[in-house]
Amino acid sequence: MAPAGSPVLTWGRPLLLVLSVLCNLILPSAAVKHDLFKTCSQSGFCARNRAYADAAASLSSSWASPYALDPSSLSFSDGQLRATVVKAVLGTDATANFPLTVSFLESGVARVTLDEERRRKGDIELRHGSKARKERYDEAAKWALVGGLELSKGAVMTEVDDPNGAAKVRYGPDGKFEAVVTFAPFSLEFLRDGATHVKFNERGLLNMEHWRQKKEKVEGEGEGEEGKQEMVDTPEDESTWWDESFGGNTDSKPRGPESVALDISFPGYEHVYGIPEHASSMSLKQTRGGHGNYNEPYRLYNADVFEYIMDSPMTLYGAIPFMQAHRKDSTVGLFWLNAAETWIDIVKAKTGANPLSLGVSGKTNTQTHWMSESGLLDVFVFLGPTPRDVTTKYGELTGFTQLPQEFAIAYHQCRWNYVTDQDVMAVDRKFDKHDIPYDVIWLDIEYTQEKKYFTFDPLTFPDPKKMHAQLDGHHRKLVAIIDPHIKNVGDYPIVDEMKSKGLAAMNKDGNAYEGWCWPGSSYWVDCFNPLAIEWWKGLFKYDRFIGTAPNTFIWNDMNEPSVFNGPETTMPKDNLHHGNWEHRDVHNLNGLTFVNATYEAMLYRDGKKPADMRRPFVLTRSFYAGSQRMGAMWTGDNQADWSHLAASLPMILNNGISGFPFAGADVGGFFGNPSKELLTRWYQAGAFYPFFRGHAHIDTRRREPYLVGEPYTSIITQALRLRYALLPAWYTAFHEASVTGAPVVRPMFYEHPADEASAPVDDQMYLGGTGLLVKPVTAEGQTAVDVYLPDSTPYFDYFDFTRYAGPGVVRVPAPLEKVPLLMGAGHIIPRRDRPRRSSGLMKYDPLTLVVVLDEAGGASGEVYLDDGESFDFEQGGYIHRRFALDAGTRALTSVDVAARKGAKTAAFERDMAGVKVERVVVVNAPEEWKGKTEVHVSEEGARESQRRRPVGFEWVEGAKGKASWAVVRNPKVGVGKGWKIDFS
Ligand SMILES: *[C@@H]1O[C@H](CO)[C@@H](O)[C@H](O)[C@H]1NC(C)=O
Repeated sequence: MAPAGSPVLTWGRPLLLVLSVLCNLILPSAAVKHDLFKTCSQSGFCARNRAYADAAASLSSSWASPYALDPSSLSFSDGQLRATVVKAVLGTDATANFPLTVSFLESGVARVTLDEERRRKGDIELRHGSKARKERYDEAAKWALVGGLELSKGAVMTEVDDPNGAAKVRYGPDGKFEAVVTFAPFSLEFLRDGATHVKFNERGLLNMEHWRQKKEKVEGEGEGEEGKQEMVDTPEDESTWWDESFGGNTDSKPRGPESVALDISFPGYEHVYGIPEHASSMSLKQTRGGHGNYNEPYRLYNADVFEYIMDSPMTLYGAIPFMQAHRKDSTVGLFWLNAAETWIDIVKAKTGANPLSLGVSGKTNTQTHWMSESGLLDVFVFLGPTPRDVTTKYGELTGFTQLPQEFAIAYHQCRWNYVTDQDVMAVDRKFDKHDIPYDVIWLDIEYTQEKKYFTFDPLTFPDPKKMHAQLDGHHRKLVAIIDPHIKNVGDYPIVDEMKSKGLAAMNKDGNAYEGWCWPGSSYWVDCFNPLAIEWWKGLFKYDRFIGTAPNTFIWNDMNEPSVFNGPETTMPKDNLHHGNWEHRDVHNLNGLTFVNATYEAMLYRDGKKPADMRRPFVLTRSFYAGSQRMGAMWTGDNQADWSHLAASLPMILNNGISGFPFAGADVGGFFGNPSKELLTRWYQAGAFYPFFRGHAHIDTRRREPYLVGEPYTSIITQALRLRYALLPAWYTAFHEASVTGAPVVRPMFYEHPADEASAPVDDQMYLGGTGLLVKPVTAEGQTAVDVYLPDSTPYFDYFDFTRYAGPGVVRVPAPLEKVPLLMGAGHIIPRRDRPRRSSGLMKYDPLTLVVVLDEAGGASGEVYLDDGESFDFEQGGYIHRRFALDAGTRALTSVDVAARKGAKTAAFERDMAGVKVERVVVVNAPEEWKGKTEVHVSEEGARESQRRRPVGFEWVEGAKGKASWAVVRNPKVGVGKGWKIDFS
C-alpha cells in the first residue's frame, strides 16, 4: 500500500493531520506524484556524471579518460589480476589510487572490482562529527551472493604488444573467453571466440569520485568573481558535493562526493533487458531523448511510488542491477553489484561501415552508463552465448529461486481488508458454495490491534484459532502482513524490546530513527544486524505471535522502507545501520534483509530439526538481487486500468529473466474499481502469472469472483480451474527455475534466441518448458489477438486444437470466455483435471498427459512432484519423470530424469503409489491410428499376466483447420513408475 495522498488518509488519526499538512507543503496538487521523486538533475551525483558524459562527448576524440593502470603494479595469480589504477585529478598534480582486482571465476564469469585506497585505509575525515564508516561499502556481496565464486585454475595472463600497454587473460570454457586490459587510458574488453562483446570505459566515463577535503569558505569569499574563476579552472560542479536538499530534507553527506560510474558498451547488440523494476517495456529504451525515447535514465532506488505511471524509467519498489544484451544468436550479461541509488543511461548507435567493428555482426551498438552514489565498483560479466547460460550463471552467484510450497503457486485471495475473522470465514464459505478454487486468504494491516504487528485486534479478530482451523479444513492458508515499521507507543513489548536491545535503524547521530508510517510514529527494525535477525526469529513463534497456526504465512510490505515523512518517502541517506554503514550505501538491500529475517523466522518456527521445517512463504514488495531465494514479489500498487494489465506482462517477464521469476501483479488492479470485463481479462492473465493474487484497495468495492455476476463469475472460475489443472506444469517449471535459474514464464527471445523478430516481443509468454504459449487479452473489447510464431512449428489451440503455424503472426480468436493459449508441437503437458477446492486436496489426484505431436510424430515433456511443503525433496523425496513419445517406435515411455538416491525417495514413492495417469490425450494424432480401439501398456514390476495389458483407445478426426486427436482411457500407470504405452 502506498502512503501520501492515498484516500485511506481520510481515516481519523492524528497521523493523518500531520501527513496532510506535509503533503500540502510538498505537493502543489495531488496529481503531481512525480515531484516526490528526484529526476537525474535533482540527484547530485547523477547530474555530475551526466555532465561528465556530456563533456566527454563534446570533446570527442580529444577526450582522454584520466585513469591509467600502473604497469609496475600488475600481477596475476590464482585466477586474479591485480593492479593499481591511478587517476590524475583534473586541474591539479594530485593523483588518487584505486586498487583493481579482476577475478576470473571457474564458471566463466569475470568480476571486476575497483576500490579506493585512501577510503579503504580510513585515511579520511568525516564532516559533522559523523560516526559513519569511512570505507566504500563492500558488503553487498555478503547479502546478494551465495556461490559461484570459485576462482579459475585455467586462466592465464599474457602481455600484449600495444603502444598503450596491455595484458590479456584467456579464461572460460575451453579458454574461449578473453579479457584485454589496456593500461592508458584504462579500459577493459571482453571477447568470446575472438570477437568483442563487452567494453568497459570505451567512452572514458569511468568516474570514481575520490575523497577530498572540503575547502571551507573564508570570510568574504563567496559567489563573487573569484568563485566563478574557480569554476573555470575546475570543470567540476561542486554545488552538490557537500550537502543536498530535496523536498525539504537535507542530506548531510559526511563523506562528500563518492560516486562510482562507468560506461559499458555492447558492440553489435541492439537489445538490452533487465534492471527491474520499472513500468516499461522488456527491451529497454534509450534514455537520452529523441522520438520514442526517455529523457531520464532508468533509476534504481527502491521507493514506495504512489500511483506509479506507465511507460517510465522512474524507480519503483525493487532493484536488480542485472542487464542482458541480446542479438541474434548471442546473449551476454552484466551484474552491477552496488546497493546505493543507481541510474543507468542507455543509448544506441548505428555501427555503420566502421572497419574497426570487425567481427561485430549486429547493426547497432548499445552503450550504457552506470552511476551509483557510493560503494565499490563491482561488476560481473557474463559472456553467454545463450540467454539460458546467462541466467544460470547469474543464479549460481545470487541463488536460484526458492522452490515454493505448492499452495503458494495456486490462487491467493486478498483485499485491504477482510475486516473480521467472521468475514474471512464467510468469504471462505462462499468460494466453496460457488465451487471456485482458492488456496490462501490474506490479511492486510487492519487485522492488527492499532497497527501493532504480532497482534490480532481482539474486537474484530477475537478467535483467530477458529478461523485458521476452518481454513485448514480444506488445506487452505492465511497470510498476514508484517511490516518493518514498529509502532512507537507505550505498553507494546515489541517496540520496547527492539529499542532496549538497540536493534532499530539509527539516525545520523546514532539514536533510534523515528519516522511516520501506518501506525503513526514508528521505529524500523534494522535487519542488517545479526542480533535483530535472531530477535525477529523469536517473534514468529506460536507463543509470541498469538493466534497464528502452522497455516499462517507472511507478507512483508513497505520494506523499501516506506517512511511517509522521509525524503522520497524513505529513510534519510545519512541514517546509520548495523556496522555504522550509511543508509545511502545499503538502501536497495534494505528490503532484502527484512525478508531474509522473516524467511529465517518462518524456517525455524516449528523447530530446529530439518524434519520440523517447512518451506517458508514470504511475499515482498521491495527486493534486490538475491531476494528470489526467499519468496515471491508483486509489482505493488497498480491500478484497475487496462494499461496496468498490459504493463504487468513485460514487468513479470523482465523480473523472470533477471533471476526473480516468482512474480505477479495485483489481479483486478489495486486502486479503483475494474469493469467486469477488465476483471475477467485480468483473471485470465493472472492465471499465467507465477504469483497469482487478487488484491484491492480499502476504498474499492468488493470483487471476489462470486460477486461479479454471470457470465463473468463462470468465466473467472474457468480461468482459476485452468490454473489449478495446470499446477503440475507450473510446479515442474518452478522446480526447473530452482535448479537452473530458467524463468518460470519465458519471453520469446529466451526460447528462440536465433530469431531476431522475437527479441522485442513482451506481450506473450511460455509457461516453463511446456511449449504452452499464452497471449492474454489486455485491451477493452478485443475479441482476437495476434500471436507471433517464430518458425514453422505448428501450434494448436489449447481448447479446440485449431492448428496455427508461422513464421509470422497468426490471429487467434479471443471471445471474452477464452484466454488465447496455444500448445507448441513436440511437447507433453502434465495436468490434473479433477476440479477441487484447493491444491492441497489435489495431492493424490491422477494425472492427465497431453501429448502434442510434432510433424515427425514425436513429443517429450516432464513432470516434477514432491510433497509440496517440506524439505524432503533435498533428500530425494520427489518424483521427476521424463515422458517421450518416440516418432520411430510409436511408444510413449516414462523414465526417471536422473538416477536419484536419497533417504526419502522410497517413502515418497510409497506415498504416491496410488497416483496414476488416468488419461493420455494425443493432439495431432496420425491418421494411421484411425479405427484403432486399443493400445498396449507395460509397467515396470507388473505381474506376467499384466505385461502388454490392452487399454481402450479412440481416435477422433479433426474438423476443418483442427488437429485430429486420440485418447488413451485410463492406462492406470503409476506416476512414479517406469512404463510404456505402445501405439504401434
Ligand atoms: C539470510 O541472511 C543470513 C545472514 O546473512 C544468511 O546466513 C542466510 O543464508 C540468509 N537466508 C537466505 C534465505 O538467503
